[in-house]
Amino acid sequence: MDYQKKNVNSRKRHFEKSSYSERGRRSERRRRGELRAKFTLVATAFVLIVVMVVLGVKLSKISDKKKGNSGENRVLADTNEDKSNDNESVNNKGNKKDTSSTGEKDNKSNGGEDKDAAVDAVANTGQSKWIRDDLDADKPMVALTFDDGPYEPVTDKILNTLKKYDARATFFVVGSRVSSYKDVLKKAYKQGNEIATHTYNHADLTKLSAKKIKAELDESAEVISDAIGCSFSALRPPGGNINDRMRKVIKVPMIYWSVDTQDWKSRDAKSVLKECKVIQDGDIVLMHDLYPTTAQAVVKLVPRLVKEGYQLVTVDELLYYKGINAEAGKVYYNGR
Ligand code: NI
Repeated sequence: MDYQKKNVNSRKRHFEKSSYSERGRRSERRRRGELRAKFTLVATAFVLIVVMVVLGVKLSKISDKKKGNSGENRVLADTNEDKSNDNESVNNKGNKKDTSSTGEKDNKSNGGEDKDAAVDAVANTGQSKWIRDDLDADKPMVALTFDDGPYEPVTDKILNTLKKYDARATFFVVGSRVSSYKDVLKKAYKQGNEIATHTYNHADLTKLSAKKIKAELDESAEVISDAIGCSFSALRPPGGNINDRMRKVIKVPMIYWSVDTQDWKSRDAKSVLKECKVIQDGDIVLMHDLYPTTAQAVVKLVPRLVKEGYQLVTVDELLYYKGINAEAGKVYYNGR
C-alpha cells in the first residue's frame, strides 16, 4: 500500500513535470511560429520596398534620358537654325547673336511643347480680297510693305498716295496697335491693301515657346478680324528672326524683303529714295509706317515706280502672279 501510494505520487509528479515541459515546448513553438510570421512579413515588406525603390530609380533614369534626348535634338535644331539664319538673315537690326543664345535658353524651359502646340490654320483670311484678277503677269511688279503700324498720321498719308495711283501695298501690323488705329486700318483694307501680321506685341518669336507663338498669332488674328472682318494670310517676323520652331508652328508664309530702305535708321526721305534707286521686278520693299519721312518718301517713290511701268501689288498678288505657291512656315524674300 505504501509502495503503491508512493508509486502513484511519483507518477503524478512525473505527469505534472512532463505536462509542464510539454506546454512550455508548445508555447515556445507558438512563439517561434509567431516570430517566423513576423519576420516573413517584415522581410516581404522590405523586399517590396527595395523593388519599388529600384523601379523608381530606373523609371526616373529613363525619363531623364528622354528629356536629355529631346534637349539634344532641340540644340541640334537650333544649330541648324543658326546656319540657315546665316544664309537668309538680312537682319535689319543685327541681332543674330541674340537669336542663338536665347534659343538655347528656350530649349531648357520648353520640354516638348513643339509637338502638341501647333498654330491653328488661320481661318477666314482676306486673301481672296487682296488678289486682284486684272493684273498683267507680264508686266513688272513690286510689293511695297510697311511694318510696325498702324499709325494714323503716317499710315493715312501713305494710303492717300497709294489711292492716287491705284497702287496697293501690304501692311504688316502690330496687333496691340490695332485698337488705337482701327479707322485707318479699315481704310487701308477698303482700298484693297493687304493686312498682314507683324505679331501682337512685336515679339521676337525665336525667343518664344510654340504655345506663346500661337498666342501672338491668335491674338493678332482676333484684333485684325475684329477691325476688318477677316484675318491675315502672311506674317513678317519681327527683327527678321526665324527659327525651326517657327517654321513648324506657323501656318502662314513668312515674308522677308529684298530691298531694305533702312527708313527706321535714316529717318530721311531722300535716303529712303536712294535705297530704292535699284528696284527690280519681283522686289519686296521694306519700310515702316511710323515715320513721317517714310510717308514723304512714298509720295515720290510711288509715282516714280508707276512711271517706270511697275505694278504696285500686295505680297499675296506678287507671289500669286509670279507663280509661287506660298507655303505655311516657309520664308519668301521676293517674287523671283
Ligand atoms: Ni518691326
